[in-house]
Amino acid sequence: MNRGNMGKIDRADDIKSLVLQALIDSKNEYISGQELSESLGVTRSAIWKIIGKLREIGYNINSVSNRGYRLEKGQMVYSAPLIADSITSAYKNKIVFLDTVNSTNIYASQLVLEGCPNGTVVVSNEQTQGAGRQGRSFASPKGCGIYMSLVVEPKCTMEQLSLLTSYAGLAVCCAIEELCGKAPSIKWPNDIIFDQKKVCGVLTRAITDAEDNSVTHAVVGIGINVLQDEFPEELSKKAVSLYKVTGEKYSRTKLVAGIIDKLNFMLIENNWLASPPSDIIERLTSRSCIIGKEVVIEHRGKSEIGTAMVLTNSGGLLVDFGQEVREIAFGEVSVRGLLGYI
Ligand code: BTN
Repeated sequence: MNRGNMGKIDRADDIKSLVLQALIDSKNEYISGQELSESLGVTRSAIWKIIGKLREIGYNINSVSNRGYRLEKGQMVYSAPLIADSITSAYKNKIVFLDTVNSTNIYASQLVLEGCPNGTVVVSNEQTQGAGRQGRSFASPKGCGIYMSLVVEPKCTMEQLSLLTSYAGLAVCCAIEELCGKAPSIKWPNDIIFDQKKVCGVLTRAITDAEDNSVTHAVVGIGINVLQDEFPEELSKKAVSLYKVTGEKYSRTKLVAGIIDKLNFMLIENNWLASPPSDIIERLTSRSCIIGKEVVIEHRGKSEIGTAMVLTNSGGLLVDFGQEVREIAFGEVSVRGLLGYI
């Protein structure tokens, strides 16, 4: 995707979101093409094309001549204005909503180059190249999951930045618990687990200044399985969705907004990266599903068995290997419990 393209996507997407919001606001009353075109400052034919696009991405919009358009009832709508409306924190994030993208992390990194504001969030309904850790992919089917990336300007050192993934995991756990009333756990360093299966993965990227190598921005990518009722064979033993865990089809809008609220609180309003709250390791430990358990540390094709002891202030994991106790740095390894798939 080149930068010229991105500007085009942004503008079209903004108008699409505004048309959708107008349909939502009109609360099952018809709204005319003329009214939409006048209030948004675009032609009626542009409105007609946008309505077509909204239908293509799954919105059920009825149209009647001389009356206009109406969004049919009972739809799970997912859009930038609705997410913005559900955010309760005072910080006003710029929200970029896309129907499809290669990866929200890639898109957000490009927005950083364009000078986007601190706290910009990219949300997509689908990813075609969703990325996980260690070169793995993250399955991101349309309309099923949350695929989002938050841009932060971290006012902290590179070492302090290593807690970012853990904070994002904590934000996701708290938001899921608030919405669904069930608490998932964290498998260090970046997986969120329900019933010994992965419901969410976090992938953070630092963007550095080429001149002095300092970190200017971080992109926190979060992928959550929300509405899937089935997974492909190769994933079904490892992955689970909120729907499969709870039997409820939760609103992605509400969950995204809940996560943004928590991340705003931690990273933007209180700068936890520079000054972690004193009880933060305790809070992370109480959510961890590996502390005190036997784990396999895999690194560069080698496996070692040890006992996960404690999370460290620098975002690492202290492991007792019998002969020695060593801190495993964030990003170095993957950890799997000996039993089940975590
Ligand atoms: C992992 O499981 O190893 C991490 C998965 C992270 C997936 C999210 S989805 C939003 C963002 N965009 C990506 O391409 N990856 C992250």
